[in-house]
Amino acid sequence: RIAGPSGLVIFGVTGDLSRKKLMPAVYDLANRGLLPPGFSLVGYARREWANEDFAQEVHDAVKEHARTPFREEVWQQLAEGIRFVQGDFDDDEAFEKLRRTVDELDKQRGTGGNFAFYLSVPPKFFPRVVEQLKKHKLSQAPMGAWRRAVIEKPFGHDLKSAKELNRVVHDVFQPSDVFRIDHYLGKETVQNILALRFANEMFEPIWNRSYVDHVQITMAEDIGIGGRAGYYDGIGAARDVIQNHLMQLLALTAMEEPSDFSAEALVQEKLKVLNAIQLPNDIGADTVFGQYAHGWQGGEEVKGYEEEDGIPADSRTDTYAAIKLEIANRRWAGVPFYLRTGKRLGRRVTEIAVAFQAAPHLPFDKESTQELGQNALVIRVQPDEGVTVRFGSKVPGTAMEVRDVSMDFAYGESFTESSPEAYERLILDVLLGDANLFPRTAEVEQSWRILDPIEDYWAQHKPEPYTSGTWGPAAADEMLARDGRSWRRP
Ligand code: BG6
Repeated sequence: RIAGPSGLVIFGVTGDLSRKKLMPAVYDLANRGLLPPGFSLVGYARREWANEDFAQEVHDAVKEHARTPFREEVWQQLAEGIRFVQGDFDDDEAFEKLRRTVDELDKQRGTGGNFAFYLSVPPKFFPRVVEQLKKHKLSQAPMGAWRRAVIEKPFGHDLKSAKELNRVVHDVFQPSDVFRIDHYLGKETVQNILALRFANEMFEPIWNRSYVDHVQITMAEDIGIGGRAGYYDGIGAARDVIQNHLMQLLALTAMEEPSDFSAEALVQEKLKVLNAIQLPNDIGADTVFGQYAHGWQGGEEVKGYEEEDGIPADSRTDTYAAIKLEIANRRWAGVPFYLRTGKRLGRRVTEIAVAFQAAPHLPFDKESTQELGQNALVIRVQPDEGVTVRFGSKVPGTAMEVRDVSMDFAYGESFTESSPEAYERLILDVLLGDANLFPRTAEVEQSWRILDPIEDYWAQHKPEPYTSGTWGPAAADEMLARDGRSWRRP
């Protein structure tokens, strides 16, 4: 799978995402030989840069963040196709210059009229940028070529704004030419959920309400909000990652087998399961939101959320969120899915744990099974990528004592191939026009349907503080304790 003649235009090229992820990903793709020789990269931003200055920025970003080794000849070839256009989003002249730049690249580098426009900008600018692309005929593909829009989350901040955003973007680009980035779908371990479930026979027969007790999906981070106050405050943990990443993980874990591996078939199954998600009966009891307070992390003293630069002292933004959901279908009725995420938690880990019911009968005496926990299958999304199966085993010795053990699959041990960065995979897919790993409008809207009432409820309440470096608010433990369960300590 090698991209054909094409180029990428990035708006918001001076931002963090572009420097840390997008530019290095482009280089890594080139280095792996997955980009065409004439591939071109155009940056658009307000900064007063010449082409060379931008090329230098890309160079530095690549040196610092690329996954693959730096190779001068690869860099040189890429650098020849790097251009910069200076302007803000209202600047008609700058957009004209962008159009000329794109046309010239077609002639000089053979990009064939095929360009993807990556909107790595705050969503409030989406409408303006797409309007400008339309006005300056950039969104319109020449005969036989393609023009695509790539948009970063957040896709709105509730259902209403998401719909409006979709309307604006679809006014200019065909739905099939719009690629919404959810970088979790670009992760190897996330794609592996489907392989694990549907390429094997041993898991699927027990993947249902008859055997599964509950599912826990955790995305924990040890970092705080860093320099992202402007983006994060007022958005919060649930909108930042539950609406997209965690809902996608849930959909992949719970969906039925797609008829094939096409984008259409996948979206159909994901949508069916998202549609079947039921809101908590009692939002107050079945959701928890919290905010990190001052504490210690990795031996270092860290600030509370409200002391972070740019955060108002009375902010009610959630930096932790836990939600209990149920799925109203034959496979999952009665099986709770607990989702949780937070910043400044014990450590960075994302995992999906499928916890199984207890054996219906134990032919051992009670004492000997005291240390037997729940059987579980844990998909370790990151950082220690792999899959763990937890089950009881006899402790060596003369007595019949049973204790939990783990059987592990670790990527590093089983594969010599290294995993591409999520953004690498996704940028390549955009250039190839492969939409499998991109959420569709309807999925985004379904996720907001679930989140909106929860956010409305939270807006009337205050988040519970939790000490940085712990596993979140006490209420989250109580939420599971009421169900006779507890959170896993990854
Ligand atoms: C982003 C969120 O989507 O995902 C960030 O906006 C979060 O708040 C990040 O830190 C985590 O990504 P990853 O790939 O490091 O788990």
